[in-house]
This record gives sequence, structure tokens and C-alpha cells, in this order.
Amino acid sequence: MRIRLDKYLADLGIESRSGVKSLIKKGLVRVNGTVQNRPDTKVDAGRDHISLDGRELVYREYEYFMLNKPAGVVSASHDSRNSTVLDLIADKTRKDLFPVGRLDRDTVGLLLITNDGPLAHSLLAPGRHVEKVYQALLDGAADGTDQDAFREGIDIGDDAPTRPAVLEIPDVTRPEEVRVRLQEGRYHQIKRMFAARGKQVLWLKRLSMGALVLDESLGEGESRRLTGEEIKSLKESDR
Ligand code: URA
Repeated sequence: MRIRLDKYLADLGIESRSGVKSLIKKGLVRVNGTVQNRPDTKVDAGRDHISLDGRELVYREYEYFMLNKPAGVVSASHDSRNSTVLDLIADKTRKDLFPVGRLDRDTVGLLLITNDGPLAHSLLAPGRHVEKVYQALLDGAADGTDQDAFREGIDIGDDAPTRPAVLEIPDVTRPEEVRVRLQEGRYHQIKRMFAARGKQVLWLKRLSMGALVLDESLGEGESRRLTGEEIKSLKESDR
């Protein structure tokens, strides 16, 4: 991939585009060992060795993070008043990261954060039916009639009823603790499905999205880069 030297450096989050131009003009940037003073020099991001002030740089076109989202932060890239999920990713280099889909402000759990637009697009495309699994705590017991309703589809006030979903009650002695498997991602969908059944969701956590499963060793608010294997299986499940 051939890109301008100033874009290469700005993409890595080193400085703004004008800031990196001045670093280049000062002669601090070398390409394959030779100082390059022109910001518009074209470089091959995958092949050329680029260094800043003697330090070799590693270019990443795409970054992928898994966040265990805490309650109280918004699933957006920017928000003028509230902290966002991107504020929680300390180790990022790219400035074009965004969360793949939204969790409500009070929902916790798995959120994929990347700048891989094509992957995000296909994970979210309504026609792809990527499965998401949630754990929920309700204000009352779920029962077999709720399970039937989830399977059949529920009218939550949209144009069409929800697609078939699975409602699991893993422990019959605690029927207010449930799991939901969904292939859609409508606004407040799980809360609205339970509300249509006369129940309120008190706590909601996303456990997985397609092949990507929340790493339970991450505390709320913690994140880590996806492993190569996780990226590969997400992309494969997405085909
Ligand atoms: N369903 C909801 O109601 N809220 C979420 O955050 C995710 C799914």
C-alpha cells in the first residue's frame, strides 16, 4: 500500500498532519535509512523501513481491540459531554477507531473497537444475522411462555416483529437470570423484548458477537488487542 509519508505518520497518531510535516521538514524521518524532507514522498507502508528520530516505526493499517465496556460510558467515537468507549483504549495508535455497533450506556460487556470498516460493515449488516449472546438479570422470573415468544418473534412496536431469538434459563432455580441469543441489533432490543413480556431488564452484559467471545479476565473498563487467531476467526465467520 503506497501512501504519503505525512499520512503514514499521522495515521500512527504521532502528531497531527501539520505536526508530522514539520518533523519531516526538520529531517527527523528516514525512509530505508535516507532522510526524506518532503511530506508528499510516497512510501510502501508494508515494506519500507521508516524511522523517526532513529526509532523504527511499525505501521498498522487496522487495529482491533476487545473492550469489556463498563456502565456509564457511551458507545461512540466522540461525545461532547460524556466519556466514550474510545477514551478507555489507552494503547491505540490509530485515530480513526470506532465501536462496532452500540451498547446502551448502562450495558456492560463485549465491544469490538476497530478501524476496519469493511469488517464492521459486514458484522452489522442486517442480512448477515451475526449472533450476539447476552446475559441479563430481570425483575421477575422468565418462563416457557417467554421462551416461546422469543422463538416466535415479538412485536416491539417496529414495522416487523423480532426475528426468532433464543431465551435460555440456565438455572431453573434462578429464573430471573437468563441468556439471550439474538441475530439482530435493534435499538434497545433486549429491553424492549422483555418489556413486551411485562419484565424489566435490571442488568445486561454482552458475552459474544459472532466468533468473538469476551475474555473474562478483562475487568470492566479493561481492553486488549485481539489475537491473530481472533481476528482470523471473526473474518471467517463473517464470510
Ligand atoms: N439490547 C439492549 O436493550 N441494549 C443493549 O445495549 C444491547 C441489546
